Amino acid sequence: MDQKLIAPSVLAADFANLQRDIEMVNKSEADWFHIDIMDGVFVPNISFGMPVLEAINKHAEKTIDVHLMIVDPDRYIKTFAGLGANNLTVHYEACTHLHRTLQAIKAEGMKAGVALNPHTPVTLLEDIINDIDIVCIMSVNPGFGGQSFIRNTYKKVSELKEIILKNNATTKIEIDGGVTSENAKQLVDAGADVLVAGSFVFKSETPLQTIKELKKRANS
Ligand code: DX5
Ligand code: ZN
Repeated sequence: MDQKLIAPSVLAADFANLQRDIEMVNKSEADWFHIDIMDGVFVPNISFGMPVLEAINKHAEKTIDVHLMIVDPDRYIKTFAGLGANNLTVHYEACTHLHRTLQAIKAEGMKAGVALNPHTPVTLLEDIINDIDIVCIMSVNPGFGGQSFIRNTYKKVSELKEIILKNNATTKIEIDGGVTSENAKQLVDAGADVLVAGSFVFKSETPLQTIKELKKRANS
């Protein structure tokens, strides 16, 4: 079985010590950097934008997984490719022509992801599952770190896994929000491949150890 991946969410890092925190992730057992871009319109918060991603990219030595919580993401696909994004995830709820958006992301050489808000059923992706590299199931309402995990997520993960298997797709399932070493194993058992963790990693006294523990739980 493939290794399950850990993606620390930089949103919870100490922005005054960003280089230090990026280097901690480089040294750790984590696999991806998860980068949350919020526009204050699609979600009720503004995180950071292009100059900060450019700065992160200078130091990051692992896959850069960008999660766009913005309206009309098509406007910025080329820009994020130029900033070093390896994966670009857009929200289902923000895309009128999702199939076209996914093709545009892939044409820029990135992996294409679709994120689903907690109220959006996974069955809506069935017809395009073979076109999606990553489905990001939001296990909190997007906009803020540090919220508690919504338990209905387990059911969504199993349903999505079934759709993937039925269609012989290679899509990875990513879980974003409220992930801890308490729910990691159950998420992986339901079918998750990538666990995003913000507060649990960066608010820990020993983040390297916390990442190691998450990775161990996810692969146990
Ligand atoms: C929420 C973001 C998440 C967030 C996760 O809108 O998409 O990536 O940073 O943070 P935690 O792990 O603290 O819930
Ligand atoms: Zn995210």
